[in-house]
Amino acid sequence: MHILEIDSLSNEQINKIFSIADSTTQNKNTDALKGKVLALLFTLPSTRTRLSFSAAMTQLGGSTFYLDQQSSQMKRGESVADTTRMLNFYCDFVAVRTEDHKMLLEIAASASIPVINALTMQEHPTQALTDVYTILKHKSLKGLRIALVGDIAQNTFNSLMLLAVKLGAEVHLIGPKGFEPDKRYVSKAERYGTVRIYDSIKEGMAGVDIIYTDTFVSMGDEGEAEKRRTLFAPYQVNAQMLSYAKPDALVMHPLPAHRGEEITSDVLDSPKSIAWEEARNKLTMAKAVILFLAEKR
Ligand code: CP
Ligand code: NVA
Repeated sequence: MHILEIDSLSNEQINKIFSIADSTTQNKNTDALKGKVLALLFTLPSTRTRLSFSAAMTQLGGSTFYLDQQSSQMKRGESVADTTRMLNFYCDFVAVRTEDHKMLLEIAASASIPVINALTMQEHPTQALTDVYTILKHKSLKGLRIALVGDIAQNTFNSLMLLAVKLGAEVHLIGPKGFEPDKRYVSKAERYGTVRIYDSIKEGMAGVDIIYTDTFVSMGDEGEAEKRRTLFAPYQVNAQMLSYAKPDALVMHPLPAHRGEEITSDVLDSPKSIAWEEARNKLTMAKAVILFLAEKR
């Protein structure tokens, strides 16, 4: 089994991952994965995902190997399929981070080991699992109203929108007119629950329990960075935006944050922000995802 896209996980599997996550926090170091190797095949930068998966493997008795395009033979043209054959020979799991979702699917098609999507331009499923796991420590998902604000057509929001509606939440996508979310993800999400799209911050924020933002310039979007910063600037998560949501609304961000752009420091560092708890939970979720896949092998 692979974890590539949120939609291919059943609710039963999602709940199983959350239950493994709870058990790992009670039992920090084990040798459950003694001798096992996780390859991190990353063509894009990462701090949290890379570190949390590495720490998770170490704490579970296994190890990680980091492979990037620059220092591997991929740089000189070795194909994705041939590289994947080597992963099959030497490793037990692979986590892949690449702009190109098709490359992830190509790896999964020739992998005999579980493949984890560690971010593509389309999805960031392990982040969404971490996010919902974190929300569940504070609020129940049933009927919860989650606002995804800013660049509403990107990986983190696609995965979180799907996962949240699958588990009974309602999603408000709030961004500028003329900048549409990915219709494929909205249609998928609407099969499970309610998604509403707003350009008005005040209207979109009404009754909101969770305010979630992410960078205005995702990896791969650097070519239009200036245009995006201007377009999305009114959608900055700040004290005024919070005043339109429920008084007990919580703020989330997958990080890295661009302070003063998509979020102000006073909000990110306030008691309303659970972004740091969310980041800490990435380690728990990395362990849970690997242990879940190890059980399935
Ligand atoms: N949230 C997240 O995926 O962070 P990194 O890009 O640092 O891994
Ligand atoms: N949407 C962001 C997420 C980073 C964790 C990006 O793709 O750059």
